[in-house]
Amino acid sequence: MQEKIMITGGAGFIGSAVVRQYIADTDAAIVNVDKLTYAGNLESLGEARFDSRHAFEQVDICNRDQVHRVLREHRPTGIIHLAAESHVDRSIDGADQFIATNIVGTYTLLEGALSYWSELSSVARQRFRFHHVSTDEVYGDLGPDDPSFTEESPYAPSSPYAASKASSDHLVRAWHRTHGLPVVLSNCSNNYGPYQYPEKLIPLMIVNALEAKPLPIYGTGANVRDWLYVEDHARALRLIFSEGRAGRTYNIGGRTEKTNLEVVKSLCDYLDELLPSPHGPHDRLIRFVTDRPGHDRRYAINGERLASELGWNPNEDFESGLRKTVTWYLENNSWLDGIRLRLLEQEANDNFASRHRKNLKKN
Ligand code: NAD
Ligand code: TYD
Repeated sequence: MQEKIMITGGAGFIGSAVVRQYIADTDAAIVNVDKLTYAGNLESLGEARFDSRHAFEQVDICNRDQVHRVLREHRPTGIIHLAAESHVDRSIDGADQFIATNIVGTYTLLEGALSYWSELSSVARQRFRFHHVSTDEVYGDLGPDDPSFTEESPYAPSSPYAASKASSDHLVRAWHRTHGLPVVLSNCSNNYGPYQYPEKLIPLMIVNALEAKPLPIYGTGANVRDWLYVEDHARALRLIFSEGRAGRTYNIGGRTEKTNLEVVKSLCDYLDELLPSPHGPHDRLIRFVTDRPGHDRRYAINGERLASELGWNPNEDFESGLRKTVTWYLENNSWLDGIRLRLLEQEANDNFASRHRKNLKKN
């Protein structure tokens, strides 16, 4: 029987990589469920968007009726859940949407999945998986000499984003233990690669450097992240979804700990090589700015379980992955232009709305 996988957040950065891989490398059919927030972009799907095995449903995962309808109509053999609000800085500015999508949305999806799963045949029930995609940020942060996060590390989220993801992880485990829903969870370190929205560190720095704008580094730039190339994450997710043990959590990491300053300097070096600027080396644009509130110092993943149980290892090292990423952004200006256009349209709408509000007040 053909696999039919429902992927939530499949128009986002990581979800679109998962969809592209399934369509290119397997016979599976995909039901892509995405609300298309500012971070969702169907152009990130490339050719997979038009493949007959790809069906798109523009649905908010908080909408119970729509979630039930999609499950009833498409009858997936499993679910990979990536839809989320994903940017820490936005969660500090306002957490409403993080609570709604990451917590209530995950709850709504779990309820829909449980009712759908309990009516499947016993063979289909056996085969079904609800894979919840999460982050290493649920574990809080590490000091310079602390051992890396394992699957047993206690939860200690710092940001509203991390707290909302931690909450969703707990819900998923509760639906497994209490209701028997066959779930699997993965907690991954920072991703980078093509099609990442230019608000996260690496794409923001590339885009700003190309426009000769400042490169803002929070604090001293000494905070450490463990970087993983997005295609490697997508491969790990496919493996965990099909072979991971029900009820189990797998940490996914890139074995690449770097300070933010190291990352930005490497990016500047590649840009100097690929696109030298007449105004001098790109690192002249680096500016140290006010630190992020509650900024986690260090993340590092112990990926032993995934390597020993399922045999996964990253293909890309940081140097090769970063070079591919910089090259991709240089060659895909049209994808960035689409985002710039949408931002301009939104600004125009916001200006119109604020003028309209002022006019209403005058009257
Ligand atoms: P992203 O912000 O690029 O994409 C999120 C996608 O979810 C978008 O397409 C958006 O339209 C969609 N979405 C948002 N709210 C929705 C809603 N209410 N209903 C339906 N769709 C909605 O995020 P990403 O970086 O691709 O992250 C995907 C998942 O992986 C998230 O769950 C995130 O927590 C997790 N994760 C990300 C990273 C990382 O470094 N980016 C690392 C570890 C884990
Ligand atoms: P980010 O890409 O937002 O991911 P996360 O907060 O989920 O780790 O940030 C990565 C690191 O880069 C983090 O330590 C914050 C830092 N950072 C900056 O120094 N400047 C920036 O403009 C951004 C967006 C992030």
